[in-house]
Amino acid sequence: MATPVRIVEVGPRDGLQNEPRTVTPAQRVALVEALVASGLTTVEAGSFVSPKWVPQMAGSDAVLRGLPARDGIRYPVLVPNLKGMEAAVAAGAREVALFVAASESFSRRNINCSIGESFERALPVMEMAKAHGIVVRGYVSCVLGCPYEGEVALPAVASVAERLVGIGCSEVSLGDTIGVGTPARARRMVEAVAKAVPIDRLAIHFHDTRGQALANVLACLEAGISVIDSAAGGLGGCPYAAGASGNLATEDLLYMLDGLGVDTGVDLDRLLDAVAFIAHGLGRPPRSKVYAALRGDRGEGQSGR
Ligand code: HMG
Ligand code: MG
Repeated sequence: MATPVRIVEVGPRDGLQNEPRTVTPAQRVALVEALVASGLTTVEAGSFVSPKWVPQMAGSDAVLRGLPARDGIRYPVLVPNLKGMEAAVAAGAREVALFVAASESFSRRNINCSIGESFERALPVMEMAKAHGIVVRGYVSCVLGCPYEGEVALPAVASVAERLVGIGCSEVSLGDTIGVGTPARARRMVEAVAKAVPIDRLAIHFHDTRGQALANVLACLEAGISVIDSAAGGLGGCPYAAGASGNLATEDLLYMLDGLGVDTGVDLDRLLDAVAFIAHGLGRPPRSKVYAALRGDRGEGQSGR
């Protein structure tokens, strides 16, 4: 299996939005820079949501302004509505991401509106994106389960993904927000959505709450997925999804892809430097197995990958 894979690094956004300790915009810029230095080409840099709802993402405008434009490097940011879009564009965003849930209850808790209303909010965002030539990614949350409703029907997931593409999203990331999925279900979910949206426009986004993220990724790679979201150091979670833990750790993903012979262009040692940097800023050790093996107490000094 050597199909090229693009990693979408979401640590500076999904990762930091749920950390109890808020890090400064300058630290966030340094994190993004360290991630880019490792070879990652798409790094989600922040979120233009209400700072009353998610204070950790305040100052995302300063983060974007602090990042130098580089050929081939993308810094998408999350926007929930036109107000967020206007602020993102003013800060120089060239790529944004909208997020819609596959479950009504989660939509209400997360963005205080129904699924239908979130599509209404998306329309002026799309208009502004077209006017400015901005690429828009779409996220579907709760694709394998909702913290309030339990199981989510696959047709509901496929329908939201199809609507996101229909309004102009270039790519749709399928989010297991609370990390309840297992490989066979994850694969069935991807196959169901791929009947509505071409698989080369789908990405997967697993939280590792139950230790299934890497296995889920492998199952979805086998189904034809080639874009994978992950967060350095296993950072992450969603403030409106009780039980959501970190995203799949980028270094764990990289280690597996390396073993599969998939070239991502990312240097593991430099990625671990970025992980060490943010762990220091957050005052807690990283959650990933690969970091523990290569840089943790037990593994410090080992040279094998
Ligand atoms: P609301 O309270 O319904 O909004 O929140 P509103 O329009 O009534 O406005 C209320 C106040 O918020 C007003 O200010 C607005 O100006 C302000 P006030 O008059 O009270 O001073 N406001 C804003 N401020 C800054 N930026 C904005 C903005 N919009 C309104 N864009 C809102 C609606 C969407 C704003 C709110 O619910 C919110 O910010 N929610 C945050 C949700 C969030 O960030 N969740 C985490 C990201 S999603 C995720 O993690 C899942 C994902 O990773 C995939 C997966 O894992 O499945 C993507
Ligand atoms: Mg997420």
